[in-house]
Amino acid sequence: MTNTTESMDRLAFLKELGLKGAALVAFYCGAGTLESCSKSDNITPAAALSSPITLDLTTAAYSKLTTVGNYAYTGNILVAHIKNGSYIAISKVCTHEGTTVQYVSSSDSIYCPNHGATFTTAGTVTSGPARQSLTQYKTTLGSDGKTLQISN
Ligand code: FES
Repeated sequence: MTNTTESMDRLAFLKELGLKGAALVAFYCGAGTLESCSKSDNITPAAALSSPITLDLTTAAYSKLTTVGNYAYTGNILVAHIKNGSYIAISKVCTHEGTTVQYVSSSDSIYCPNHGATFTTAGTVTSGPARQSLTQYKTTLGSDGKTLQISN
């Protein structure tokens, strides 16, 4: 473990090298020297829903979900129509520091724009600094294709 002065000197040195954003965090957190990258920064994954949520896919807010590759938010949940044609619903709150995550259709994955964590469409971490999975919920498409229910 390094002392604070040495840690600050390393951060300044890395900035001098031109490392920015996710690259800087990945490099610095990978070295295990920045206090803000400690386990205490990881937030608790979202809790279970108190009751099911039903989205009306005919409304302007959610109609884009009928197209593969699109996503939307409802409350703290990201809902996406993923590449295999199914729907997913996962917590939109990154388990690192709480930034809203996004669905990336080109890689069929979940991405956090803050520090670059990535997750599978099931919410499992594939790249840090996040360490805990995003909470996943069940999705059920209505028989008429016009509603999507989200539940535990
Ligand atoms: S908030 Fe840091 S990776 Fe998401």
